[in-house]
Amino acid sequence: MVNPSEQVNKEKNIESVLQEARLFPPSPEFSADAHIKSLQDYEQLYAKAKTDPQAFWAELAEQELHWFQKWDQVLNWQPPTAQWFINGKLNISYNCLDRHLTTWRRNKAAIIWEGEPGDSRTITYGELHREVCQFANVLKDMGVKKGDRVGIYMPMIPEAAIAMLACARIGAPHSVVFGGFSAEALRDRLEDAQAKVVVTADGGFRKDKVVPLKSEVDKALEHGASSVEKVIVVERTKEPVTMKEGRDYWWHDLQKTASADCPAEIMDSEDTLFILYTSGSTGKPKGVVHTTGGYNLYTHMTTKWIFDLKDTDVYWCTADVGWITGHSYIVYGPLSNGATSLMYEGVPRPSNPGCFWDVVEKYGVNVFYTAPTAIRSFIQQGEHIPNARNLSSLRLLGTVGEPINPEAWMWYHRVIGGGKCPIVDTWWQTETGGVMITPLPGATTTKPGSATRPFPGIIADVVDKDGNAVPDNAGGYLVIKHPWPSMLRTVYNNPERFQKTYWEPITSVEGKPVYFAGDSARRDKDGYFWIMGRVDDVMNISGHRLGSMELESALVSHPAVAEASVVGVPHEIKGEDIYAFVTLENNYSASDELAKELKQHVVTEIGAIARPGTIQFAEALPKTRSGKIVRRFLRQIAAGEDIVGDKSTVVDPSVLDKLREKV
Ligand code: WTA
Repeated sequence: MVNPSEQVNKEKNIESVLQEARLFPPSPEFSADAHIKSLQDYEQLYAKAKTDPQAFWAELAEQELHWFQKWDQVLNWQPPTAQWFINGKLNISYNCLDRHLTTWRRNKAAIIWEGEPGDSRTITYGELHREVCQFANVLKDMGVKKGDRVGIYMPMIPEAAIAMLACARIGAPHSVVFGGFSAEALRDRLEDAQAKVVVTADGGFRKDKVVPLKSEVDKALEHGASSVEKVIVVERTKEPVTMKEGRDYWWHDLQKTASADCPAEIMDSEDTLFILYTSGSTGKPKGVVHTTGGYNLYTHMTTKWIFDLKDTDVYWCTADVGWITGHSYIVYGPLSNGATSLMYEGVPRPSNPGCFWDVVEKYGVNVFYTAPTAIRSFIQQGEHIPNARNLSSLRLLGTVGEPINPEAWMWYHRVIGGGKCPIVDTWWQTETGGVMITPLPGATTTKPGSATRPFPGIIADVVDKDGNAVPDNAGGYLVIKHPWPSMLRTVYNNPERFQKTYWEPITSVEGKPVYFAGDSARRDKDGYFWIMGRVDDVMNISGHRLGSMELESALVSHPAVAEASVVGVPHEIKGEDIYAFVTLENNYSASDELAKELKQHVVTEIGAIARPGTIQFAEALPKTRSGKIVRRFLRQIAAGEDIVGDKSTVVDPSVLDKLREKV
């Protein structure tokens, strides 16, 4: 593990971080209208949740969600296993759809969708309910039963959300795989989840290009994922695809004749809602398991209080549904609240770098949630681009996925928010299901670069490796000390990995087990958290999580590569970039062509998000006596820093100097 105090020292060199004297209290007008109106309100809620968490969550669960049957017990905590709302029965698709139909929201826009080529659709709650019910029946006709897993590999089109909600409706856990992952990566995930059906599209539009998806599914199924019996294909791009008789079906053919009558399955609160794969520091990506009741409640409450949703708002989260942010804050959280959730297929691209602002202007977006990497690329493009659009509808901004540097925060506040919108910097993870540390926009005075304070019910702390609390501003490991409703329940098919990854690195704090987040943080004298980054071998490339080991296995699977070691290096736009050290097999020699080929090989194995920025060929890699590669030094070499630390752990320290010379 990286030592957090080294990170603090590094951070202190960046002058801007120390300008934390800048305080941004919410305006009185914003607070007056907000769900949580003042610091006192937040502190009261926080204290109430801390004193009696079960009563706190039970009251909200009763008020905010529809239950077919009430729970007998709020929490059963047998570390590391938590169960919430035991014997409670509900269905998240019912909470996202059916319950709005008896209100005026029946004809309210649930999803506003804009395609990259400029086509668009608005789907009301009534219409969405109908489509979801029909597709749920389609899945049933394909033999999908409660408990069967369904893979979803889609572009950002409404059918992705429809497929997710349809799975939830019949109790079939979905496993959404980001459309940017390659056939290989898709196959691994479908195999691990033992998916029975895959829902995909012929392709999608991204950066003015057609991205094929169905052909990737075909490749994935050619040599594996034999559990998949049927493939359902949405026609999006109309590019030709091969349809295999008896296996592949067109979505529109099936939907046309499907009945719209499909009552929501009665689900137990602890029934699995979905599996979502994410990168860890070792081995293959792990299937993070989320269940129904706690996840529904927590995403509902965080959406309501953090994004301060009003019924008149147009809310836009720019994430992809293939990531947890898309699950919790495009689909489930907003729809459970009866909000209007905007979905955009495109990304900023050379032909229209201002496309996000066109969408904000066109739909009068009020709440906008994006990633720091996107903000940094907007800064680079120049403020004339957003300035040329009318962004006055915006009233609240958010960020997620990686630390935001204070200057990017200031730019976002000034240029996009017109100096008047609060910014919620939300810290959380695939595993946490929902936002954990965040401002509440009507209550919290923000400081650029800080995710501020924990959400009510979240007991966060910063500790050393033995679990002792560290002093103010000293770096330490971020831990969560009490279970929360949307916490991951396990790693799919791998309870040992669940235990080892999250519950063993810090065995206990004050004698109790704690959740280890894998991030380092410091807490200032006001109790504000400053997240510093991962302490394991997980990288964060443009807000996307990638494990060093995953990348190394991809490289080593190329015949030329003998050994590979991958580290992250600071990158102005992406936050971090991938830097790979590679030694070659005897009969290969280093060349630019080979470097290019290896980069492409990683893209084929994992996907374009994993393309290494640099491949450095090396004669040897620094190793310990037991043969372990020492990534700590490689990180310093890749970043062009001086090599600091005890070099005697490396068998042949001259290897380090040789690597240095080559940079
Ligand atoms: C990082 C994304 C700093 C962190 C929701 C975490 C952040 C990882 C922030 C999870 C933030 C996320 N400030 N760092 N506001 N939000 N991170 O699973 O390192 O894709 O552990 O979930 O992103 O990434 P994941």
